[in-house]
Amino acid sequence: MALHPLHGLVEQLETQPIIFIGGKGGVGKTTTAAALASYYASQQQKTLIVSTDPAHSLGDVLNVRLNNETTVISPYLDAIELNPDVIVDEHFAQVERTIKAYANPDMMPKIREHLRLSKSAPGAQEAAMLESMCHHLVEAADAGYEHIIFDTAPTGHTLRLLVLPEMMGAWTDGLLAQQRRQSKLRSVANHLDSHNQKNGAQKNDVANPFAAKKSDRWEQAVSVLEKRKQLFHQAGLLLHDRTQTAIVLVMTADVLPLAETKRAIEQLEDSKLMPAAIVINQLISTAQSDEFWRRRAERQQHLLQDIEQSFTKYPLYPIYLQQTDVRGTDALSALLSA
Ligand SMILES: Nc1ncnc2c1ncn2[C@@H]1O[C@H](COP(=O)(O)OP(=O)(O)OP(=O)(O)O)[C@@H](O)[C@H]1O
Ligand SMILES: [Mg+2]
Repeated sequence: MALHPLHGLVEQLETQPIIFIGGKGGVGKTTTAAALASYYASQQQKTLIVSTDPAHSLGDVLNVRLNNETTVISPYLDAIELNPDVIVDEHFAQVERTIKAYANPDMMPKIREHLRLSKSAPGAQEAAMLESMCHHLVEAADAGYEHIIFDTAPTGHTLRLLVLPEMMGAWTDGLLAQQRRQSKLRSVANHLDSHNQKNGAQKNDVANPFAAKKSDRWEQAVSVLEKRKQLFHQAGLLLHDRTQTAIVLVMTADVLPLAETKRAIEQLEDSKLMPAAIVINQLISTAQSDEFWRRRAERQQHLLQDIEQSFTKYPLYPIYLQQTDVRGTDALSALLSA
């Protein structure tokens, strides 16, 4: 049996401050993330747990009501639950401020209407969530936490989030290049304008009273984009730095989670984001007197052979099925100390 003792997971992740917990829906991501966070906090290591899952289950597991602001759970544990609706509103308010800085005021009602519709466009929440996650990632890395644990939404969503910083970087690059071309054209136009004026074609003293102001605003818009690009770049660097970030995939010993984990690992490897470990959750011990549970345990053991053959490169850690849901920091951290 190539399963490692569970305590090894805690030790393995000790030195990587950023931990992403991913996996299929319902396999135990929130439980694992909250267990790791509670364990490190119990060891007096300052820990932040961030939930990017729209389902709000982190608060339920920790028995605390959470929101977009940092909530202190215990002296060494802080938690944030990112609310996609609030984040999307903030994100679009920011976009509106940026556009307002250089758009023609007459256009604003149309632009506002467009932004209002964009809020519910496919991907809008993800993009807003990603930007917010990148902020937390970069800020938390500087905020003195020893561990920052991200409890994420089911696999596909998380993978897109993990790969998006590069795509968003490229997209922002495209916008910047376009703006640079336009600003070059504008400066040529201004040059020609002043040339005409020198040659006596003076329609008025100041050819374009808004020119200086407009270019200031333009600079502001470019600087917002530059900052965003910088944010995605920094987040991308952190995600790809194996000394900083560990991706832990959670699965159960079942056919569908196995298939999904295989696909997730292929995608992660393609993006050079190797997972650090795989947790096999809800395992049933084989010492069962009841026929039903013995059969289930045997089936899991059978699948475990498949799992071990499929993931030879990655350490596998077991978490056993508990009698009840695991809630509260004491029970959660006990799950990993066992
Ligand atoms: N080892 C375990 N023993 C007993 N119950 C467990 C165990 N792991 C998870 N559970 C329970 O299974 C349910 C799903 O777990 P959890 O919420 O951690 O999964 P998740 O992957 O975060 O789900 P989602 O994809 O919905 O976010 C919860 O009710 C949780 O308490
Ligand atoms: Mg969850």
